[in-house]
Amino acid sequence: MSEQVLLDIQNVSMNYQNHKQNIAALGEVNLKIYPGEFVCVMGPSGCGKSTLLNILAGFMAPTTGQVLLNDQPIKGTDAQRGVVFQTPPLYDWYTVRQNIAFGPKMNHVPKEQVDADVDKYLAAVGLSEFGDKRIYELSGGMRQRANIASSLINNPDILLMDEPLGRWMP
Ligand SMILES: Nc1ncnc2c1ncn2[C@@H]1O[C@H](COP(=O)(O)OP(=O)(O)OP(=O)(O)O)[C@@H](O)[C@H]1O
Ligand SMILES: [Mg+2]
Repeated sequence: MSEQVLLDIQNVSMNYQNHKQNIAALGEVNLKIYPGEFVCVMGPSGCGKSTLLNILAGFMAPTTGQVLLNDQPIKGTDAQRGVVFQTPPLYDWYTVRQNIAFGPKMNHVPKEQVDADVDKYLAAVGLSEFGDKRIYELSGGMRQRANIASSLINNPDILLMDEPLGRWMP
């Protein structure tokens, strides 16, 4: 018996229409991703990587085709799909702990659970010693790891990362 497909990308293409110009950013992508897989999309600048990721995140609909997550069509954003952006959307005036706790806190997760989860994900990304630092006190790579932890703590079914380890200059 074959394993259940997690993410099924079916004939996905994307054309941007701007200023009467038609830009074919993505053409007929077909890809199946299974639970536990770590899939890396590589290609030159402008080949459509972020476009594909934005469609998977539900930020925009493809021109043709569809994407199924656990057999359900993706129709918009949802917490089941975590997104790690290239520029970390972290709050400079919060500590690392407060940033990582932000999502579960907004979801009314009990404080004891949030504290335990923050400890777990701080350790997972090697930032246990830096929980009480402010974001501006971190290096670029540390910020990226705090960024990844703040997505992981929401326990998404799938984590979409757009150049998450790219060098980001504060
Ligand atoms: N909002 C938009 N409107 C019009 N064209 C766009 C838009 N966003 C991206 N494009 C075009 O679509 C193509 C793919 O862009 P995309 O951002 O997906 O590339 P990428 O592979 O992520 O590149 P990079 O590695 O530089 O981040 C490019 O030709 C880009 O100019
Ligand atoms: Mg990109």
